[in-house]
Amino acid sequence: MKILGIETSCDDTGISIIDINSTSITILANKVNTQTIHAGYGGVFPKMAKIEHIKNIEGVYEDACVEAEYDKEKPDIDAIAVTVGPGLEPSLWVGITFAIELSKKLNVPILPVNHMEGHLLSPLLPEYEIGKEIELRKMPENAISLLVSGGHTQIVSSKYKVESSKAEYKILGTTVDDAVGEAFDKVARMMDLPYPGGPAISKLAEAGRADGNTAPSEASQKPIFPRPMLHSKDFNFSFSGLKTAVLYYIQDLQKKGPDILNKDGIKEMIACEFENAAIEVIIKKTVRAINETGSTHLLLGGGVAANKYLQSELEKVSQENGFEVYYPVKQITGDNALMIAIAGYFNSLDKKPTFDYDSLKATGSLKL
Ligand code: KG4
Ligand code: ZN
Repeated sequence: MKILGIETSCDDTGISIIDINSTSITILANKVNTQTIHAGYGGVFPKMAKIEHIKNIEGVYEDACVEAEYDKEKPDIDAIAVTVGPGLEPSLWVGITFAIELSKKLNVPILPVNHMEGHLLSPLLPEYEIGKEIELRKMPENAISLLVSGGHTQIVSSKYKVESSKAEYKILGTTVDDAVGEAFDKVARMMDLPYPGGPAISKLAEAGRADGNTAPSEASQKPIFPRPMLHSKDFNFSFSGLKTAVLYYIQDLQKKGPDILNKDGIKEMIACEFENAAIEVIIKKTVRAINETGSTHLLLGGGVAANKYLQSELEKVSQENGFEVYYPVKQITGDNALMIAIAGYFNSLDKKPTFDYDSLKATGSLKL
């Protein structure tokens, strides 16, 4: 089945074209345009994001058609998969409107996709190469997914039935305030780093760790930042208190001298201590979810999945606890239309591809 995927839920305009069946996939095209306009603002402005999507989507579509060697007027596709939520509503409508117009023009059905299911299924792709037939990983029968992005931090259990090719998901835990990626972004902003701050923080943290630059906690044998909800019985997270603790720590430091943040090693140390705190909570809760549900596999997805420290800590605990981790390839940790096309395909297996545009409009909500 040939599927064109569309993703516009936040600040990435993505178009992909895949040829997929239940065991393998050929990526014919995968294009994404990440909006840079938000870099100086510390976050994404929905109205600005919408305008950028409108400006970019046609060009991204044309680039994808060129990559797939398709005629943009008559691409050879069987269905269009499009993100319908969760996300920024003005942004989502750009992709949905584009999908509706294209579906009418080509007379192909639309497969509405939940963005988080896209992240959840992204680790089924074991490698990334345009034009090559790649064998997909099989969905494990009993798995835990850890979805870590700028909008979500979720632990989801999935029970997959081979006979029906269908997974039943249950959200075991979620954040009660900020998402983990959002906390990375806000801490980055406190240290004058551009948006999105996750990659910059993790790079500083890596340097700090390599230099043994975690002096305050080592000296007192006590971490300087809290591990919120580490011992709560549920699988929920909270990152707002951690973010505020970092803010107060920086404000205290600045009393000693306004330029202290730029002194040698200070930013590295703060980034490292913050990352240690955030990742420790995520890892411990995830391992508990795996052990309590008797899951054999962990599926990792979302922008923060690119974090190297998270990956190396997961590697350690997976060996200690005897479960296997499916990591997403780097090209599809952040938002992209490839994961949306993959999710659209798996959804279409037992559902009739439909798209009830009128009822979607009537409810006024895109949240799934
Ligand atoms: O999945 P994604 O692209 O968009 C959402 O659906 O939110 O995730 C974006 C988030 C941003 O908060 C970004 O700072 C974070 O992922 N991120 C990282 C890293 N790379 C991206 N966070 C920590 N470490 C990274 N290496
Ligand atoms: Zn996302």
